[in-house]
Amino acid sequence: MSEVWAAWILEWLLAAQFVLRDGLHALGLTPLVAGQPGWPFAERLSAEMMWIDPGHARRVAITGICVVVAVFFFVIAIAVALWCRRVRSTLIAGLMGVAFIAVLAAPWPASHLLWVPAVPTSLHRSDSGFQPAGIMRGQALFQQNCAQCHGADARGQGPLASTLGRWPPDLTGGLLWKRLEGELFWRVRHGMRDERLGRETMPGASQTQLSDADIWQMLDYLQARASGQSLRDLGAWERPVRMPSFALRCRYGAQRRSDGLKGQRVLLVLPSRTPLSAPPEDPRMVSVTVRASVDVVDFECLADDAQLLPALALLLGEREQDARGFQLLADRDGWLRARSAPGRSAWSEDDFVCRTGVQRADKPVADANAQGLDALLRRMDDNPVKPVRAGFPH
Ligand code: HEC
Repeated sequence: MSEVWAAWILEWLLAAQFVLRDGLHALGLTPLVAGQPGWPFAERLSAEMMWIDPGHARRVAITGICVVVAVFFFVIAIAVALWCRRVRSTLIAGLMGVAFIAVLAAPWPASHLLWVPAVPTSLHRSDSGFQPAGIMRGQALFQQNCAQCHGADARGQGPLASTLGRWPPDLTGGLLWKRLEGELFWRVRHGMRDERLGRETMPGASQTQLSDADIWQMLDYLQARASGQSLRDLGAWERPVRMPSFALRCRYGAQRRSDGLKGQRVLLVLPSRTPLSAPPEDPRMVSVTVRASVDVVDFECLADDAQLLPALALLLGEREQDARGFQLLADRDGWLRARSAPGRSAWSEDDFVCRTGVQRADKPVADANAQGLDALLRRMDDNPVKPVRAGFPH
């Protein structure tokens, strides 16, 4: 089964779980947990196995269709029985029979592959907005509350690490993307236990003064930090990273936020060491100049957020002073895709550091004649990214 199919099935399964969660809450059957409807079951659907085992994904998809067919015929049979009193009972029995056969015919997948343990916040989505101030505040909170075990750089080498029963994991690798963000939230909030040994392996942040918003901000920081480390170690953003959301003002139009630029490509120009002149306007993208201490004239859009440069430095895996002079390109969906190092006069293929997109079958590979920035933009457009967390499209 192709990846496109697996992604499609998983998108539907995730949507079905959201509908169930929100429906139960709307009926008043489940409470809000940390501001969002809680997941009331001890398990949720697992997605990872469906990527690994196409046969399992196929069984899940066919079973899903059989269940929908069974429910459909069952409901029709009940409706006919209730409202059409003169209808022959053989019709009702026939409809019920089809529903029954659909259930029997379904190739039910093994339940231990289908379900994984869940927590009330499993399906929660961060509401922090990935804003520069939140990312930087998350960094400060992490240094105060977590670095003693996880290390100031989040790689698991804190001063207390060797005294713990379990070594803290490196949070700058792929671990964060192997988890649903709501489950990370729960673990940071309530801590973690080793059920076999019956003891706590990590204390929960709820024992401290940390609020829910603080936890989401720390997770934003960790994601930015992990992205920067990936760029340093592998020369690529292995997992797609969003352009942070910040306020900006543009020469044309009113003051607005960067989220309003969705649908357009965005060039982020970080302040350079030498006095900055904004890049010439380019119809292919909106250029946003990140304000330095010096005044910038002639900008198309200007971001005044003092935390944007340090937040982007984290994403680049650079110290703040070394991030000066970089340029970043975001695609039309708001994902950061390319970065150009200071002092480079033209863009090249090597700058395309987020390539995890799936090549669309209907689009040819980038035009061989296109070069530099043109080629890069075309590849960006032809390969939209498909972020995945814990196996689910995100
Ligand atoms: C007393 C030491 C200690 C402190 C303090 C601590 N952690 Fe941990 N953390 C650990 C250990 C040990 C693990 C691994 C636990 C396990 O796998 O059972 C862990 C695991 C994690 C994980 C991985 C969870 C997963 O799904 O595998 C995250 C994320 C995390 N910690 C974040 C934080 C944050 C954020 C803070 C600060 C609010 C923090 N930790 C404070 C020791 C600590």
